[in-house]
Amino acid sequence: MLASGRGSNLQAILDEIAAGRLAAAVTVVLSDVAGAFALERARRTGVPTVFVDPKGYAGKQGYEQSLAEALRAHGVELVALAGYMRVCGPTLLAAFAGRILNIHPSLLPAFPGLHVQRQAIEHGARFSGCTVHFVDAGVDTGPIVAQAVVPVLEDDTEESLAARILRQEHRVYPHAIRLFAEGRLRLEGRRVRASVPAAPGAGELALVQPPLPT
Ligand code: GRF
Repeated sequence: MLASGRGSNLQAILDEIAAGRLAAAVTVVLSDVAGAFALERARRTGVPTVFVDPKGYAGKQGYEQSLAEALRAHGVELVALAGYMRVCGPTLLAAFAGRILNIHPSLLPAFPGLHVQRQAIEHGARFSGCTVHFVDAGVDTGPIVAQAVVPVLEDDTEESLAARILRQEHRVYPHAIRLFAEGRLRLEGRRVRASVPAAPGAGELALVQPPLPT
């Protein structure tokens, strides 16, 4: 995983794995920020960490080459970005083509970029949410894997809306990773198809929306 900050999504994924609900392993956590709390969370769980200092490289290519080498050295099959505050360049995209996911706190394609909870409130949106998508060369533009919706309430602040969305992020991201790990995701143009499992009653909708909490 790649994270620049507090790492609550990383934690949610680690917790799902520990609970036996996600058959995957976080083999390494990389960060471009030495003091990122995400690194501390990884260390607490015994997951190897790597800090790659972007300032140590003349350009993005060299920096991303180092990232890709570290990811490969740890046998990474899927790169999950969670609060990674840099745009992926061609070097990283080529090294893990079709194998990079990101989580974004809005219902894409609405409100890409930064401060999106504030944007949703100022725009007067009645609903917002979060989106897991494959990463392409744009900013929050890649094919959508899964989304969850939350209401925007009359008295919401940026913080209260962010907290409501974050609770959904922690459900949706492990779910999307599960779909990837089970080989259920197939890219058709910019649409992501999730294959239907053999289990009776399980439909495509159930697959792309994580099950609601009981
Ligand atoms: C999340 O809101 C995520 O959607 C966005 O950055 C935030 C990261 O939070 N890309 P955390 O570091 O996982 O707690």
